[in-house]
Amino acid sequence: MKHITLNNGLDVPAIGLGTWKSAPGEVGKAVKEAIRMGYRHIDCAAIYGNEKEIGEAFKQVFDEGVVSREDLWITSKLWNNAHQKDRVIPALEQTLSDLQLNYLDLYLIHWPVAFKPDVINATKAEDFLSLEEVPVNETWKMMETAQEKGLTKGIGVSNFSIKKLKSLLDSCQIKPVMNQVEMHPYLPQNALVSFCFENEIALTAYSPLGSGDRPAAMKKDDEPGLMAIPAVKEIAANHHCTPAQVLISWHVHRDCCVIPKSTNPERLEQNIKSATIALNKHDMETLAGIEKSYRFVDGSFFELEGNGYTNVFDL
Ligand code: A2P
Repeated sequence: MKHITLNNGLDVPAIGLGTWKSAPGEVGKAVKEAIRMGYRHIDCAAIYGNEKEIGEAFKQVFDEGVVSREDLWITSKLWNNAHQKDRVIPALEQTLSDLQLNYLDLYLIHWPVAFKPDVINATKAEDFLSLEEVPVNETWKMMETAQEKGLTKGIGVSNFSIKKLKSLLDSCQIKPVMNQVEMHPYLPQNALVSFCFENEIALTAYSPLGSGDRPAAMKKDDEPGLMAIPAVKEIAANHHCTPAQVLISWHVHRDCCVIPKSTNPERLEQNIKSATIALNKHDMETLAGIEKSYRFVDGSFFELEGNGYTNVFDL
């Protein structure tokens, strides 16, 4: 498995397991199966609502001696309602308690969007706090404190634009090691990838397969399917693999991490085996040619009239 080296010197396995939308009652089993078949990078978040069950799974694989804590790369994310200075460390401590861990490998600010403390899913403008009230750079200072306290080995962000990263880089003591964003051939994020690489920030691709299992409220009619793109299917046929494996392998070839979600044993196996697929220059050029600036997770759920967040991907 290829590893990506971060600016703090740590190596993260390029292919990890996504756990967004992995249902309670299924996610623990999937995490255990994944670790047994060789996954060493697990991507979590408090808002996914399944960290307790994942924590039980970690405990079991550690107790059974399948792997030890140091063998795994574990990421989690700070939810939007815990951006205030006094809420960052308690949120991380809650995640550590749920995951039954002493430390994370990576803790990310999930979105550059702040909610009031008692709000989990914001549905009206009053649920939000403005970025003037809770500046991201202030939240970042507490992320730095979390790292200094040894609660996490690295800190980073998710869903951050170039503009937001620039502002963070101007004021931070510890540089973010990672920006996790939606990325796939329809949304290659070329400018963001160039900026991040120039500034030694690695990238992780979420929704690499188009997240077809998103809640209906997050879906539009006539969404294009990544796995049905003729060029992707043709490349898959040439390599005797599946379209999903082509989509996963593409990130590895671009030196990015990728976290496909599955709770199905065959697909878990298929996804990690994408690490062995050698796409050629022509395949990469073909995949680079199908961009259409299409987002599956378009952020509109944070863009309510009067809440001050007009385009969350361009803040
Ligand atoms: P399942 O969990 O039943 O395998 P994303 O990673 O972009 O969020 O996409 C996750 C969705 O893609 C889930 O619906 C998941 O279903 C499905 N999926 C995961 N791996 C594969 C695969 N190899 N082939 C087809 N669908 C897959």
